[in-house]
Amino acid sequence: MNSSIPQEKGFDNSLALMTEGYLYIPNRRRHFQSDIFQTHLMGGQKVICMGGEEAAEIFYDNDKFQRQGAAPKRIQKSLFGGSGVQTLDGSAHKLRKQLFMSLMTTERLSQLVQITNNQWQIAINKWEQSDEIVLFHESEEIMCRIACLWAGVPLWAKELKQRTNEFSAMIDAFGAVGPRHWRGRLARNSSEKWIRGVIDQVRSGEFTAEEGTALHAFSWHRDVGGELLNTHIAAVEVMNILRPIVAIGRFITFGAVALHDYPETKKKLQMGEANYSQMFVQEVRRFYPFGPFTGARVKSDFTWSGHNFKKGTLVLLDLYGTNLDPNLWEDPNAFKPERFQEWDGSPFNFIPQGGGDYHIGHRCAGEWVTIEVMKASLEFMTRKIDYEVPPQDLNFSMMRMPSIPKSRVVISGVRRK
Ligand code: HEM
Repeated sequence: MNSSIPQEKGFDNSLALMTEGYLYIPNRRRHFQSDIFQTHLMGGQKVICMGGEEAAEIFYDNDKFQRQGAAPKRIQKSLFGGSGVQTLDGSAHKLRKQLFMSLMTTERLSQLVQITNNQWQIAINKWEQSDEIVLFHESEEIMCRIACLWAGVPLWAKELKQRTNEFSAMIDAFGAVGPRHWRGRLARNSSEKWIRGVIDQVRSGEFTAEEGTALHAFSWHRDVGGELLNTHIAAVEVMNILRPIVAIGRFITFGAVALHDYPETKKKLQMGEANYSQMFVQEVRRFYPFGPFTGARVKSDFTWSGHNFKKGTLVLLDLYGTNLDPNLWEDPNAFKPERFQEWDGSPFNFIPQGGGDYHIGHRCAGEWVTIEVMKASLEFMTRKIDYEVPPQDLNFSMMRMPSIPKSRVVISGVRRK
């Protein structure tokens, strides 16, 4: 027992986590007036929860924390698959992460923006023929096409709906129990089978993967021992590119909510003020709930700020709460893109996609991809088209993880400007 860390009572507080969702850690940080507290979750396992800039800095210290054994099996079976980069440590992680980051060159990112613009143009042709569309579903579908084109994965028009739905189900499963979780697992099995088949075709010469794409990189990458990745792991990693690009559809949907709820931001985006779309996108990623927390295990005993961390303990870092931490952000519950004019750029205080260093740590490999795709998409939505937002329920739950506006954002009368 660690006496200096505030303790939450109860043998297993998983139910409170399920019912409070994104607010579970922030509520207790406020209640205990402490950035760190101890609780029991997932069958009575001792868990330390922490948040804030200093906690994030410690959490991303590779000498103190490791990922092996941190991700629950249920998350691996639905969201991110087994043996992927998320579960690696040390040199194995560094080598695999290098490969991910090698796909994120300026040139590849500008190709991605071009693909994004083209796909929005194509989608508008269809939307102009409909009275109304559901933005969340449509943007996931656009993102799925963008993901496959950019990653070099062949996608037949007739498969588009199935593949989009599968990626969507994997993402939707992460905080779920019951049917939503099982949909995610089934989707992962089907999707992995598809990508394994594509990798087999690349390796047998039946299909040529374009150099520079994720499909090419993971099909031909050799791991620490000089061997090609086994097909399962290669498929998991290609999907670690495809699935999260589809997830950007959620941020675009929240971006549309912001444009509706804060119409002055829409005008500024339309006018194309210098740096405004970058600030707008950053504020969407700060303000709206997506990743609630991330986890790691203590690598060996250490003391931080008078608190003892015992080897093997699971520690959760509060991503959502850190982005809305009143000690770090002035007026954190107000949507103000301009706040990013003054942001100090710290890798530990704005962490919607994790913190620390991209190359040696577990910070999201696709953060630049996310920002570029969001910017291109939201600029398109404000500068190239007009639409109406009919009455609907745009509220989103803080209990449902991942959250999404109740109506999924219906827009009508879409027309080109
Ligand atoms: C890791 C969030 C988009 C690829 C992560 C982590 C979070 C995250 C929270 C874990 C950080 C940690 O545990 O320390 C998001 C969100 C996204 C997004 C909210 C918005 C849609 C993307 C995109 C890609 C991507 C577009 C790829 C193109 C990855 C990979 C990792 C990762 C490969 C594992 C990194 C590692 O373990 O070293 N992401 N991500 N993500 N993300 Fe993202």
